[in-house]
Amino acid sequence: MIILAIDTSCDDTSISIIEEKNNNPKILSNIVSSQVKLHALYGGVYPSLAKREHQRNLSIVLEKSLSKAGLLKLKTKKTKKTSENKTPTHFPSAEFLDKYKKPKIGLIAVTIGPGLEPCLWQGINFAILLAKELKVKIVPVNHIEGHILANLLLPVGKNPNLQTSTTKKIVFPAICLVVSGGHTQLILMKNIGKYKIIGETRDDAAGECFDKTARILGLPYPGGPAIAAEAAKFSISNSQFSIKLPRPMANSRNYDFSFSGLKTAVLYDFKKRPKEVRASKRYVQEMAKEIQQAIIDVLIKKTLKAAMNFNAKSVILGGGVAANKELRKQLREKIKTELPNVKLFIPEPKLCTDNAAMIAQAAYFHRKSATDRWKKIRAKARLKIKNVD
Ligand code: KG4
Ligand code: ZN
Repeated sequence: MIILAIDTSCDDTSISIIEEKNNNPKILSNIVSSQVKLHALYGGVYPSLAKREHQRNLSIVLEKSLSKAGLLKLKTKKTKKTSENKTPTHFPSAEFLDKYKKPKIGLIAVTIGPGLEPCLWQGINFAILLAKELKVKIVPVNHIEGHILANLLLPVGKNPNLQTSTTKKIVFPAICLVVSGGHTQLILMKNIGKYKIIGETRDDAAGECFDKTARILGLPYPGGPAIAAEAAKFSISNSQFSIKLPRPMANSRNYDFSFSGLKTAVLYDFKKRPKEVRASKRYVQEMAKEIQQAIIDVLIKKTLKAAMNFNAKSVILGGGVAANKELRKQLREKIKTELPNVKLFIPEPKLCTDNAAMIAQAAYFHRKSATDRWKKIRAKARLKIKNVD
């Protein structure tokens, strides 16, 4: 089965095509058109700007994605030269439909939430147009479930036989840590499609904390990769400032998180330093290292606690922050020493940040809920992952 998926939940326009054969998903294409440069100018994502960019990008990304997957085939009959040369051929223009054969897609998947509502609608409306044209149904997908199931995907170009479905098999129950720009959640997963949120952030998400503290330090958006890059330049022998940030809620009895206090602590430390220190590379590097470590410490501590208390057989990481090298390394080491019987799943970095391949993968498991009742497919900005006891 070939699934085409669309994700426009935040500031990336992504369309991916995957082929599922005997539970072995193969990514045929996974195009992500990033709006980072645009939002970097403002230091964060502006929903109205992001919506406009999705509107501009969707048909271009579709064409690229179909082409990469080898599904964009020219019709044999010659199209009129005038229309070919003068007008863009992007879907849903008449020129596009005139020029290309209908691609063989079995199902369309689209993210319906959580995310920025105006952005989600762009993806949904585009999916409906495409579904009507291709005469296929749509599977509405939860973005958070996509981040979790990204762990079952094979990287582009990898031979599915190299990594069999057995090695990729999640053993349940699993504890999932989803850490992104908008979410920080610990989820108990009893099976695919059966989830229970056991803890989440009470204020800022971990990614948001990276983004906001990076801004304080004068680093570019998105803050996660920028802080990670600065932190990597720091060595303990160079320590000058002995910065010690709090680890908020690390020892609380629940599985909730809170990162806004960490941001305030960074701002407080930053403000008390003389101007020349704040602007110095050494200070920024040392602070970046401590911010990254404080976030990692809290995330790992709570995840391990949840895994132990729920007798988890697998730990699953997902979301943009999961691309963080240090988090990946330290979580691997901790699980190896403290929970050696627990299987750890971390997607390759490209599949941690927003992408539509993970949405296609989630849709595959929910293909029975495919619908052509278009009015039922609605954006839900605050959609929660299904709570099943
Ligand atoms: O999942 P994602 O792409 O979008 C949302 O659904 O929010 O996550 C984006 C977040 C941003 O806050 C970004 O700073 C963070 O993921 N991020 C990272 C890294 N790469 C992206 N945080 C830490 N280290 C990274 N390498
Ligand atoms: Zn995301």
